[in-house]
Amino acid sequence: MKDIYGGDAVPSQAWQTFFPDSEPDGDHQTDDRLRLSDLAKLARRTQRGIVGVARAGDRPTFTGILAAHLGAPLEDLEVVEESWPTYDHVNVQVGLDAWLADPRRTHQLLGMTNFRHQEFGLTDLLRRSSGYGPLPGNVSWVSLASGPGGQVQRAVRAGIYLVSEGDTRAAVLLKAPDPEAGLGATQMHVVADTSGAAVEIASTVRRLSVEHNVFRGQVISFGQDMFGERAGVLQFHVRPRMTAADVILPADTLATIKRQVVGVAEHRARLLAARQHLKRGLLLYGPPGVGKTHSVRYLMSQLTGVTIIELSGDSLALISTACSVARTLQPAMIVIEDVDLIAEDRDMYEGGQPLLFQLLNEMDGLAEDADVVFLLTTNRADVLEPALASRPGRVDQAVELELPDADARRALFGLYRGGLVVDDSRLESVLDRTEGVTASFLKELLRRAALVAAEETDDQPLTVSADQLDAALSDLLDTRNAMTRTLLGG
Ligand SMILES: Nc1ncnc2c1ncn2[C@@H]1O[C@H](COP(=O)(O)OP(=O)(O)OP(=O)(O)O)[C@@H](O)[C@H]1O
Ligand SMILES: [Mg+2]
Repeated sequence: MKDIYGGDAVPSQAWQTFFPDSEPDGDHQTDDRLRLSDLAKLARRTQRGIVGVARAGDRPTFTGILAAHLGAPLEDLEVVEESWPTYDHVNVQVGLDAWLADPRRTHQLLGMTNFRHQEFGLTDLLRRSSGYGPLPGNVSWVSLASGPGGQVQRAVRAGIYLVSEGDTRAAVLLKAPDPEAGLGATQMHVVADTSGAAVEIASTVRRLSVEHNVFRGQVISFGQDMFGERAGVLQFHVRPRMTAADVILPADTLATIKRQVVGVAEHRARLLAARQHLKRGLLLYGPPGVGKTHSVRYLMSQLTGVTIIELSGDSLALISTACSVARTLQPAMIVIEDVDLIAEDRDMYEGGQPLLFQLLNEMDGLAEDADVVFLLTTNRADVLEPALASRPGRVDQAVELELPDADARRALFGLYRGGLVVDDSRLESVLDRTEGVTASFLKELLRRAALVAAEETDDQPLTVSADQLDAALSDLLDTRNAMTRTLLGG
């Protein structure tokens, strides 16, 4: 018998044998007579207790270690506390590592135990401990995503760096967020024996964490964890690789989109010098399956080096977080697909505004010279229009993507046939019959035709006859396939 995990299921009565206090039947008497071995055990335990209490003062404590390192009277030292959002833990570690890597500095990392679910800071550790709270121990590390394809960076969960630089001695506490305990921030506390040094160190690490930020130039998205509590779970994505030849749109449509997004980025310096704003908003709208998402991916592929932040359905409440990351890491592009969904969302979020208004306010709040693009898509422009009209100036351009005309359908046919050998002698009739379908319909048509050919022949390479192409098209256009057509946007 296999259980649901594929292991051998244990018959239920067998569990009895695993209960620690189950006793063989018939022997229910407890033996409470004192034995010699009990006395010996008691004596050993008492001895351990006495020795432990007497030598507690010998165990290293943070207070002792910090006093030895810093040398000065601890109570006189100023502690500087900095904090970052949860998702920035990796960047704080990277910034700190960059600071420590300077050859003028040497350091030693102290780990700690008993730090989980505890609210404490460097000030607490500088005071003689009462026996509770963290104790010196092993360094506990956590692996954090630092790039696409599973790249990770290890970061300290809780530890103290004892740093020496010339005559200056400093200590830096790094503490990871602990969201389960309601401690959502990444914290860094700094103390030094020289006046002003702690402030200087804290601001240098903050600057380095932006300079070496692992999100810079990457494609990232924010999501929420399955309980929706830990906002800001961040993922890296591989940047799409595409060329203009992959996007079949009327030449002027593609040129407009490119100019607004890529062109402004290319001429950044001269536009700024001429005091023209860089911040821009572009809305792509049109029916499903015409290439809005496809164009977004194309733009991402062209903006190498630009930080892309994608927000989707479940992460839209993180608009202000996304904007703050974009501002820090500009040039950046914030992508919000299917923005009509948030226009219809009447839920109030922080600040008591429906999400769409929050988005428009955030767009407005970014400085004009910020090199940030907002790229929005929708197939329900009508839902958006009133809101956009009531707050003009956020979206500079709306570009409609239309159903492909005969020329575009021909081009799509050419693009999606790929390596397939197709008898296109009756292509004109195929193009006539596909009036009004979407780009995704044509892509599927070629795959269907290839499948029909694969089922009917053993040709190598796969060859589609004109009849097979017609048959695949008739099948897709068949009224019984109305639902499939709807799915393809046909
Ligand atoms: N203009 C196009 N050029 C080339 N391929 C296209 C084009 N439009 C769509 N496609 C193909 O069809 C697929 C579906 O299109 P896409 O996801 O971009 O539609 P969409 O406009 O975003 O629709 P929706 O409103 O449903 O999100 C794309 O992955 C791509 O393979
Ligand atoms: Mg789409």
